[in-house]
Amino acid sequence: IAADLAANNRNIEVDPEWEFPRDKLIIEQVLGEGEFGRVLRAKALNIAGNVGYTTVAVKTLKDDAGERELLDLLSEYRLLKEVSHPNVIRLLGASTSPGGPVYLIIEFAEYGSLRTYLRKCRQIKSEPNIRCSTGEQWTPTVQYDEPKVFTVSARDIISFAWQIAKGMAYLSDMKLVHRDLAARNILLAAEKVCKVSDFGLTRDVYEDDAYLKKSKGRVPVKWMAPESLSDQIYTNKSDVWSFGVLVWELVTLGASPYPGIAIQSLFHLLRSGYRMERPENCSVELYQIMRNCWEADPEKRLTFHELAEKFEKMLSEEV
Ligand code: ADE
Repeated sequence: IAADLAANNRNIEVDPEWEFPRDKLIIEQVLGEGEFGRVLRAKALNIAGNVGYTTVAVKTLKDDAGERELLDLLSEYRLLKEVSHPNVIRLLGASTSPGGPVYLIIEFAEYGSLRTYLRKCRQIKSEPNIRCSTGEQWTPTVQYDEPKVFTVSARDIISFAWQIAKGMAYLSDMKLVHRDLAARNILLAAEKVCKVSDFGLTRDVYEDDAYLKKSKGRVPVKWMAPESLSDQIYTNKSDVWSFGVLVWELVTLGASPYPGIAIQSLFHLLRSGYRMERPENCSVELYQIMRNCWEADPEKRLTFHELAEKFEKMLSEEV
């Protein structure tokens, strides 16, 4: 964390509507780290209309981050200011003034990433609503106030898919393409509310609905649609492909997709029609939804609105 205190001497335009003073933030611990970024847990004093201290997540850059990563963080800031939906992570403020690190202050999701949560629920696989301990990942000394039980039912899985589809339907209405939709980028908040998160790669779609990626960056190959892999075309339809992989992650409680398949061979396999098989414990109905998301022709894939409707119907039909 000390390394994070390296001063921000860049000239970033401060938005007074969202600017939050760094000295009203108490940094508590590291929640997660990426290659160039870091998410911290903190307490913020009187933020976003809340009186007193609120637990928040703070997104910032590591010391070795470059211009590209700073631009991605600022682009995430700009997009988060525009969005407001119960299934999309909410921005609370930002610290961008000179003399300190750039902080994006976002709502804290108490269960953390959905992938991690699902993996913690594995011991009770297919036995819904039974309490389980967290097994080897449990570190009570550090995560002292982390929820202590992890449970997931078959209904939860459909509810997660429904909530994520609703969040994504909202983003597609906003003409936003996420480009990195995966269980690791969904946060789980209190009451098992899913929040689409990690907007670092998100782009506005202008004119025609295809976004042509300019350059490199990290590439989530196993979540990418064939048209993204071959032609760097990103649309709401390529997000739907990724959503299909995310649904596969949900039913497998956070397994890694295409096990045993090298990323180098994936594109040709997909082009020749190969798709992941139906996982154990996955209904034919749910598998058909996944397969629709993985249609080679993007136009044949359902929209997020249609997907949300399907999951809503499945929830209403269940007992
Ligand atoms: N990890 C990354 N972002 C988070 C957030 N907003 N809440 C909790 N854990 C997180």
